[in-house]
Amino acid sequence: MNSKPEGIIIFDTTLRDGEQSPGATLNIDEKLTIAKQLARLGVDVIEAGFAFASPGDFEAVQKIAEVVGVEDGPVICSLARSRHDDIKAAAEAIKPAAKGRIHTFLATSDIHLQYKLKKTRSEVLEIAGEMVAYAKSFVQDVEFSPEDAGRSDPEFLYEVLERVIAAGATTVNIPDTVGFITPSEFGALIKGIKENVPNIDQAIISVHGHNDLGLAVANFLEAVKNGARQLECTINGIGERAGNAALEELVMALHVRRQYFNPFFGRPVESEKALTNIDTRQIYKTSRLVSNLTGMLVQPNKAIVGANAFSHESGIHQDGVLKNKLTYEIMDAQLIGLTDNQIVLGKLSGRNAFRSRLQELGYDLSESDLNKAFVRFKDIADKKKEISDRDLEAIVNDETQQAPDLFKLELVQISCGSNARPTATITLRLPDGAEITDAAIGTGPVDAIYKAINRIANVPNQLIEYSVQSVTAGIDAIGEVTIRLKDENRIFTGHAANTDIIVASAQAYVNALNRLYSSMHSQRKHAQMASQET
Ligand code: KIV
Ligand code: ZN
Repeated sequence: MNSKPEGIIIFDTTLRDGEQSPGATLNIDEKLTIAKQLARLGVDVIEAGFAFASPGDFEAVQKIAEVVGVEDGPVICSLARSRHDDIKAAAEAIKPAAKGRIHTFLATSDIHLQYKLKKTRSEVLEIAGEMVAYAKSFVQDVEFSPEDAGRSDPEFLYEVLERVIAAGATTVNIPDTVGFITPSEFGALIKGIKENVPNIDQAIISVHGHNDLGLAVANFLEAVKNGARQLECTINGIGERAGNAALEELVMALHVRRQYFNPFFGRPVESEKALTNIDTRQIYKTSRLVSNLTGMLVQPNKAIVGANAFSHESGIHQDGVLKNKLTYEIMDAQLIGLTDNQIVLGKLSGRNAFRSRLQELGYDLSESDLNKAFVRFKDIADKKKEISDRDLEAIVNDETQQAPDLFKLELVQISCGSNARPTATITLRLPDGAEITDAAIGTGPVDAIYKAINRIANVPNQLIEYSVQSVTAGIDAIGEVTIRLKDENRIFTGHAANTDIIVASAQAYVNALNRLYSSMHSQRKHAQMASQET
């Protein structure tokens, strides 16, 4: 990955910066599932996590390095602050990968230096060079990011970049950490770097940006025109605050408008050669997978992967498309892997057909997960004649990617109606095995359920989001419920799917509670261990 690329390097940070979205926390198996799909999608680099952050993060990076970081697979990268212990942990975690990268960062804006780091410019310059050299003692492939580059003094930025390249950085990444910059400014910044950093030809210029002003993708495309050759992005644009630049938008912009971009790569305008290594037909399924596993819903009008991105509502548009698709369509839905043929399985479908369709959708299940999902599939197929890809995803997600079963929902019973006070009866099995039944009255059936669960579980929390979506059209559709709960400072997601949305609502709530409860307990365990060590 050290030689100059002919096109664009896609660096996916869904598992690192994307996972920093509030409530998007993934467990190791979920991270591995996503990493395998990212490899199928064809990303060049997977930033698998921040190894030093926690033992769980370390293990996830290591596992992904081992399983996905094969010889012809993507580069596996770990983030590290510019500190010895961070860099050492990153080096250790990526060791099993055939191609590993350490990505180290240090802020360069005056505001970060003064308030966060409490360091002078010359101290930062020293540390950056020293830490890149340290990372280089472990791997050849070292990336350096001057955090908050978008608000840094360009002259200081040039100095830092020159220093880290001299110390061995093979990629220099320019982050717009706070999503502040505008497209022409970002283009000018990249141009300035090319013109003012004397050894810049020894490194690849990368960009990283957040979407606080909705400009991240536009900023990146301007950076590409000025010489950036690596784009750091996430699936569905998930990430810290307003998210990161969306991979699918960048890739499709470079694909659909390649004639516009070709000259910036020294190619003839008409060249049909792809500008990225992405298999665009994997985009939709990757988007669904990430949305299902993180619980981060995709807005219907989201570019490329939103439910409405390829549907025409107005009569004039429908008429035009029927006459010739080109009247209102700039890309074919099949390009991102959407097919018209959504109905795939039914009641009589066997286990093999079920497994192979799931594999096509990017789910590679263990035998026990497959068994659980198949039983659930048969149950739903009894109630619902046609099972679409979306139904399958909902089933698999529901059966296999759940939070630890600490509280277990044993019974949900509801009584409600126009002249009744909504009343829920719930039986919950507690983590210690005891089974408790209780009832509550609420403003509606879901409120009554949540009140009854809270009476039994007694885990303090605040419900901050409840949403229900129909997986497909039709009266027999599966309903997917997504819940977000908050304890004092963290958000936990719960997700469940069922043809009965009342049951799905109860299950989603219990799933979120289980995540919250298990995090509370692991924090307690860490605190106990730490106090024993001191
Ligand atoms: O936004 C940012 O600056 C980052 C860096 C660590 C690259 O995520
Ligand atoms: Zn970031």
